[in-house]
Amino acid sequence: MRVFGIESSCDETAAAVLESPLRVLSSAVASQIQAHQPYGGVVPELAARAHLDALPRVFEEAIRPVPGGWQSLDAIAVTQGPGLSSSLLLGLGAASALARRLDLPLIPVHHMEGHLLSLFLAPGAPAPEDVCPVLILLVTGGHTALVRMNAPGEYVVLGRSIDDAAGEALDKGARLMGLPYPGGAEIEKLARGGDPAAVQFPLGAPDGEEAVRRGGQYAFSFSGLKTSIRYHLQKNPDSPLRDVAAAYQAAVMNSLLTRLRQALQNEPGVKGIACVGGVAKNQLLRGGLEDLAGAHGINFHTVPMEYCTDNAAMIAAVPLLRKLQPAQTPPAVNPNLLLQGLQLR
Ligand code: KG4
Ligand code: ZN
Repeated sequence: MRVFGIESSCDETAAAVLESPLRVLSSAVASQIQAHQPYGGVVPELAARAHLDALPRVFEEAIRPVPGGWQSLDAIAVTQGPGLSSSLLLGLGAASALARRLDLPLIPVHHMEGHLLSLFLAPGAPAPEDVCPVLILLVTGGHTALVRMNAPGEYVVLGRSIDDAAGEALDKGARLMGLPYPGGAEIEKLARGGDPAAVQFPLGAPDGEEAVRRGGQYAFSFSGLKTSIRYHLQKNPDSPLRDVAAAYQAAVMNSLLTRLRQALQNEPGVKGIACVGGVAKNQLLRGGLEDLAGAHGINFHTVPMEYCTDNAAMIAAVPLLRKLQPAQTPPAVNPNLLLQGLQLR
């Protein structure tokens, strides 16, 4: 089975071809970062226009290296949500046209499930049955969750953020430090050589009934962190930015690692830990996870850098790993899509 995947939920236009047993034949990504950079964040109108412009090019780039080309495909998979509605609509429109033109089934995919299953995209990555059950930090620009994956399609959310996402906290913190968008990688760069102990930022691991109700036993919270950095910069305009960046980065990553460490005490039978999503590119986080896995004698699974940030290989992987059926009725985009079966415990 060969699947053409399409992703356009935010500021990357992407297409990819995968086949089973899981193998990436091509993966093309057009990033819009430069278009949004002057505004310090993603501008939905600009994003939609850039998708419209990039989709045909990216489709061509994804199909060119594939032996047999368009005629060799068996299905089209497309991100249905969550994301920006106008951007999602353009991807779905292009996917529907392609499916009709090639007379192929169209399979709607949840963007977050794509990130979770990106775990299996690396060449030579272990099979799901060897990896699961696994605790995964799902850390993107818009979402933060600690997910237990028992098998592809079987997810339990152990905790999620009750306010900002980890990536969002990094992006907002970077903006306050005068760094370009997206801020995660910029903070990581600036933090090299900085002293993480120079500033004490709060740990985004809230307790209390309300936090548990909204974010689960392992709830995250990052909005306090953003407020602290704002006050710190106002009160200490001369403190070296590399120290602030190092301390801020450490606070975000420690919040994530703390929750995972706590969950590992209570989750029986877990074979390993992993991180997925754009923030999973962070070396401090990866190092912390590796240490944590070592201390518990379990596996740490990494995702290649190119599949951490948004891509279409992870979208095409979902129907291949889950044997999903195509939509019976034409799918509609859903900007606020909840992952079915992804319930907060
Ligand atoms: O998964 P992604 O591409 O988009 C969403 O689905 O939201 O993640 C983007 C996020 C941004 O917040 C960006 O700042 C963050 O990933 N990011 C990083 C790094 N590279 C990207 N965060 C920390 N360290 C990095 N090296
Ligand atoms: Zn994403």
